[in-house]
Amino acid sequence: MTSQSSKPFLYVVVCAAGIAAGVGELVAAAQEQQWEVGVIATPVAMGGFFDVEAVESMTGRPVRSAWRSPADPRPFPPPDAVAVAPATFNTLNKWAGGLADTLAVGTLCEAAGLGVPIAVLPCVNDALAAHPAYQDSLIRLRGMGVRFGEPYSGGTQRGASRKEFAWGHALELLERR
Ligand SMILES: Cc1cc2nc3c(=O)[nH]c(=O)nc-3n(C[C@H](O)[C@H](O)[C@H](O)COP(=O)(O)O)c2cc1C
Repeated sequence: MTSQSSKPFLYVVVCAAGIAAGVGELVAAAQEQQWEVGVIATPVAMGGFFDVEAVESMTGRPVRSAWRSPADPRPFPPPDAVAVAPATFNTLNKWAGGLADTLAVGTLCEAAGLGVPIAVLPCVNDALAAHPAYQDSLIRLRGMGVRFGEPYSGGTQRGASRKEFAWGHALELLERR
């Protein structure tokens, strides 16, 4: 499916965090702000972390997860911007390290090199976030110009309700020059 739309094209990259079930909220908010949206999910995220069919119905495009065959046309136009939400510990570390073993990470590595604006909403628990490799990854990605939302641990504290995941903040980050 190709777009005849003149709207800017946003890639939403979805990783395998529990919060990914709500990604439709970001897709809807982006469409409300006149983005055309294509979703790229990690292979693990395709295994039940969000409703793939519902997202395909919202975007009118297949959710991409695997590389196309060389003879196949490019399913999405090039991105005008990328939102990674939720971003996992695993994908952020691989991206920072340049390990493009999934379409999602390969797309992020390339988009950064092309100077495409990228917003990231991490969902990483405090124990994983304490790992020195993760701290190094954040420094490296920030140094590449990647824009980060607030840390989000995804956990619930006893007696406290789960903090809202700020899906729309990804779009605000992309507005910044
Ligand atoms: C139910 C469930 C929830 C998870 N939530 C998170 C999470 O919030 N953040 C995270 O970094 N990993 C989380 N994980 C672990 C990731 O799914 C795992 O590291 C996976 O390899 C990430 O793959 P990806 O980065 O390619 O999406 C979760 C796993 C499960 C089974």
